[in-house]
Amino acid sequence: MQAEAIYQDLRRKLGDVMPEAELLLKAEVAAEVLALKAERDAVILGHNYMEPALFHTVPDFRGDSLELSRRAAETDKPVIVFCGVRFMAETAKILNPGKTVLLPTERGGCSLAESITAADVRALRAAYPGVPIVTYINTYADVKAECDICCTSSNAVAVVESLKTDTVIFLPDEYLAKNVARETGCHVIVPSVLPKPGAGARPGTDVERTMIAWKGRCEVHELFTPEDIDSVRSQFPDVMILAHPECSPEVVAKADYSGSTTAMIKAVEQSKAKRFLLLTECSMGDNIVAANPEKEMLRLCSHRCPHMHEITLEQTRDSLKYLRWVIDVPEDVRIRALRSVERMLAIGPKID
Ligand code: 13P
Ligand code: SF4
Repeated sequence: MQAEAIYQDLRRKLGDVMPEAELLLKAEVAAEVLALKAERDAVILGHNYMEPALFHTVPDFRGDSLELSRRAAETDKPVIVFCGVRFMAETAKILNPGKTVLLPTERGGCSLAESITAADVRALRAAYPGVPIVTYINTYADVKAECDICCTSSNAVAVVESLKTDTVIFLPDEYLAKNVARETGCHVIVPSVLPKPGAGARPGTDVERTMIAWKGRCEVHELFTPEDIDSVRSQFPDVMILAHPECSPEVVAKADYSGSTTAMIKAVEQSKAKRFLLLTECSMGDNIVAANPEKEMLRLCSHRCPHMHEITLEQTRDSLKYLRWVIDVPEDVRIRALRSVERMLAIGPKID
């Protein structure tokens, strides 16, 4: 696609949120990315949090963590460029050891992925023998390798229910754990000190269903407060409020809807409301407005994900040009992590 055609499309979608000069510049870079993508026979996966100019131009597939994992599992392209953060690109590599997986930044961290190590998981397993361990996909491969099954924000409840046990360990997001626990009828414990090996709760011995959680938090979603919701509702009584389940349970309880990034996008598209507040990374609001110009999107843009914002169109172009940064996962770790990821993919939900 030529830069001029891309520019016209971007102008139609983003003319209200981006200055003219930037639209022109971004269209030029997007054209370079598309040319390099064809040359390398690559597929580009773009998370819903990508900056609007990237999100609306170069990805072959856009989506939440689960959708992009499925796309990664299905692709026959030799090169996968993951416009998202490191744990997402690692998941693509776990599923596709024979392909070149590129992350367009050297870092691409995540406060949740950094909140837990493989040694922490081994200590939990020793403390609570026999208790299944669920890990949120926002973890690194060595942590996934120590767990029994993965989940994302769109299938966490289904994954916990699938285990059919009285006790489950759910890592590492304390808030997601508490939100899932409410839906699955579990009592949550966040141990500050782990019990001695073998001394923790065992399946079937607790008076009620128990979820053992970890103290990880998303550095973006933990910033939203119930007071934010009260303040916005008092100014805009007709607003529909959507919160990602990485927000605190108090925030989720006050919101009108909670779901994965794609679930939130669909909820906005399907709602008859005219005004929305998104309690999640701010770029997603711009991306929704571009596709739904008749809807007004309020958001608290002082809360941004610095890791997702390392990925730009320019970085994506350079990633394809210089084949960087290549994601590798040691084979013994990959094989064990693959079990957790494949068990999750078998549960669903599927994508269209
Ligand atoms: P989703 O799977 O809902 O896209 O969430 C990923 C994420 O990191 C949200 O902060
Ligand atoms: Fe991680 Fe939070 Fe950024 Fe998502 S928004 S990638 S959970 S730090």
